[in-house]
Amino acid sequence: MTDLPPSPYEAPGFHAEAIAAGRHRAIVGGRWDETGRAQMALLLDAGLQPHHHLLDIGAGSLRLGCKALRYLEPGHYWATDASRDLLLAGLRHELAEVPPAQRPPESQLIGDAAFTFPGVPDNITHAICFAVFPHLSPAHTEVALANLRRFPALELFAFTVFLAPEAEAGAPYRQADGVVTHPAKPPYHRTEASVQELCARLGWQAQRQDRMLPRGQVLFLARRAG
Ligand SMILES: C[S@@+](CC[C@H](N)C(=O)[O-])C[C@H]1O[C@@H](n2cnc3c(N)ncnc32)[C@H](O)[C@@H]1O
Repeated sequence: MTDLPPSPYEAPGFHAEAIAAGRHRAIVGGRWDETGRAQMALLLDAGLQPHHHLLDIGAGSLRLGCKALRYLEPGHYWATDASRDLLLAGLRHELAEVPPAQRPPESQLIGDAAFTFPGVPDNITHAICFAVFPHLSPAHTEVALANLRRFPALELFAFTVFLAPEAEAGAPYRQADGVVTHPAKPPYHRTEASVQELCARLGWQAQRQDRMLPRGQVLFLARRAG
């Protein structure tokens, strides 16, 4: 998509080797329960209800899914990821506490590295992309925001990025918890103004949230502007 360096997730064999070694939790960043709870909490605070239809973009091994599936009505959870095998590892190993009737059919776990959301139905009301954009060049964020416009019922898109202050964004930047982010290689940071400009240009009204999140990521809640 760009000439910028790839993320580790784009390295050949990265997902396959980790899944084979049983590291499907580790490659989404570990901190399994805490990070799943943080995502569930932000969605509930933003108004998610059991009858809504959730799209979990870059869902990994279902760190959020294992919680959201217990909350949502059956069939209301869809997930995409660059690695479908990682989604399927989550389905196999992480849904023990989800009643069988609430587990998703494999057809709702979709391999998609291009943010085109193939096969995802029009009735999606909420979408989340958590801890994915920090790994990818800003061009991916742009494609995702543009393609999400096609979902007519979408009320809310929640996503996280790393931010850096305007004056320091051109160089490596140390986030509050110690992670060093970069302007042109992963993990990426951007300025708040650039996120706002992108959202506005693509028809979204985005609000930065003050919520504390793992690793110091910043949450934006975007709603269709018109
Ligand atoms: C840090 S993990 C976060 C996973 C999940 N959102 C969570 O919070 O548990 C980043 C995820 O992004 C996925 N990913 C990386 N590049 C992607 C792309 N181009 N399209 C979709 N998913 C991607 C990875 O496979 C991985 O599962």
